Amino acid sequence: MKLNPWKQNPWFESVAVAQRRAKKRLPAPVYAALVAGSERGQTIEDNEAAFKEIEFSPLVAGHKPDRSMATRVLGQDISLPVIISPTGVQAVNPEGEVAVARAAGSRGTLMGLSNFASKSVEEVTAANPNTIFQMYWTGDRDTMVQRMQRAHAAGVKGLMATLDWSFSMGRDWGSPEIPEKVNFSAALKLGPQVILRPGWLWSFARTFNIPDLTAPNLAAPGAKKGPTFFGAYYEWMTTPPPSWEDVAWMREQWAQISGTPFMLKGVSRVDDAKRAVDAGVYAISVSNHGGNNLDGTPAAIRLLPPIAAAVGDQVEVLLDGGIRRGSDVVKAVALGARAVMIGRAYLWGLAANGEAGVGNVLDIMRSGIDSAMMGMGVASLDELRPELFEIREGFSRRAGAGVGRSLSEI
Ligand SMILES: Cc1cc2nc3c(=O)[nH]c(=O)nc-3n(C[C@H](O)[C@H](O)[C@H](O)COP(=O)(O)O)c2cc1C
Repeated sequence: MKLNPWKQNPWFESVAVAQRRAKKRLPAPVYAALVAGSERGQTIEDNEAAFKEIEFSPLVAGHKPDRSMATRVLGQDISLPVIISPTGVQAVNPEGEVAVARAAGSRGTLMGLSNFASKSVEEVTAANPNTIFQMYWTGDRDTMVQRMQRAHAAGVKGLMATLDWSFSMGRDWGSPEIPEKVNFSAALKLGPQVILRPGWLWSFARTFNIPDLTAPNLAAPGAKKGPTFFGAYYEWMTTPPPSWEDVAWMREQWAQISGTPFMLKGVSRVDDAKRAVDAGVYAISVSNHGGNNLDGTPAAIRLLPPIAAAVGDQVEVLLDGGIRRGSDVVKAVALGARAVMIGRAYLWGLAANGEAGVGNVLDIMRSGIDSAMMGMGVASLDELRPELFEIREGFSRRAGAGVGRSLSEI
C-alpha cells in the first residue's frame, strides 16, 4: 500500500473543523450561501453564543454505565435526538440531499427535505424512507395540495410547514452572487472563484453533473424540470402570506392526504405556540430560521423554556438554531426540546466529505451527547432537567407571554 503523506485524513473531530474544510473546499459564493444569516448577523451569532450561558456541573463519580439517547419524534423511533433540518442550498456536493438522506438513515435518524431541494422527493425517500417533507406557503391552494399529494405518494412520513419568512434582505458582510442557471456565461463569471477550488469542481465533473439550481419538487405535474431557484422564489414572494386559518387548512389537507404528523417550524413566541396547538399541529420547532429571517430575534434556545412550559404537554416541541455539538443537544433537551434539528452543521460535513461527512457530524453529535449525559450522571434523555445546569440570570426570552413593556417602563 502506498501512503500519500499529503492526503488529509477525511475524518474530522468537530463541526468547527468541518466548517474550516468546507470554507477551503468551496468556491467563495457557495460557502457564503451556506453561512447565510441576515442584516447585522445578531441572531445567527446569538443562536450559537447563547449555549455558553448554560453551564455544566459534572459529577466526579457515580456516572451511569448504561446510557440511552434513543427517542421517538414525529411518530418515528430515532437513535439520537438529532434530525436533519431542511436546507435549500445543497449544490455543495453532486449527490446533495440524497447523500444527506443516506447518512441520516445509516445513523438511524430522520431526513428533513426542503421545498427548494435540488433532488426530487422520490430519490430522497428511496435513500431514506424516514423523510419529512418541508413546504413553504407558496403557490395557490391547488398547487400546494398537488405538492402534498406528490410527497405522500413518494412515501414521506410527515409534513413540516415553514412559515417564518419575511423576505428580509441585505447582509452587512455582502451576499453571494448566485447565477440563475449554471451555464457557460455563469461559469465564466464565477470562473476564478471556481477554478481556485479544483476539489469541488472535480466532484461534479466526475459525475458529469453540473450543480443544478432548480427545484424539482416544485415542478408542475407532467413538467420535466422544476422552476429555477429564482422562479421558485418569485412564486413564494408573490403568494399572499398565510393566516392561522391557512395553517389549520394546510394541516387538515395533510391529515386527509396522509394522516402522518404535521409540524410547524419557526415558532418564536409563546402565543404563537398556543395558536399552533389550536390549529391542531402535532409538533412545532422553536426556531428563527437559523438567523436567516428577521435579524434581532433572540437565539432559539432562549425562546425554548417558556414555550416548552406553555405547550410541551400538548405537542412535541423541537428546537433548531445554533446546534454545533452534542452538549448543545443535551442543553436543549434539558430545557424542554424532545429533539433538535441541525442545519449548517451537516452542510459543513457534506461540503467537507460528502455522505461520510454528514455521518461524521451525526457521530460527533452522538458522542458529545453521550459524554454530556455521562458527566451529568443521567441514563436517559428524560432525566435531563434544567435544575442540573447553571443557567445565567435573564437567560430566556418570553415574547408573546404577556410580558411586553410600554415606553414609560423601559
Ligand atoms: C443555507 C440554508 C438554507 C436553508 N433552507 C431552508 C429551507 O429551504 N427550508 C427551511 O425550512 N429551512 C431552511 N433553512 C433553515 C434550517 O432548516 C434551520 O432552521 C437552520 O439552519 C438551523 O440553524 P443552524 O444552521 O444553526 O443549525 C436553511 C438554513 C440554511 C443555513
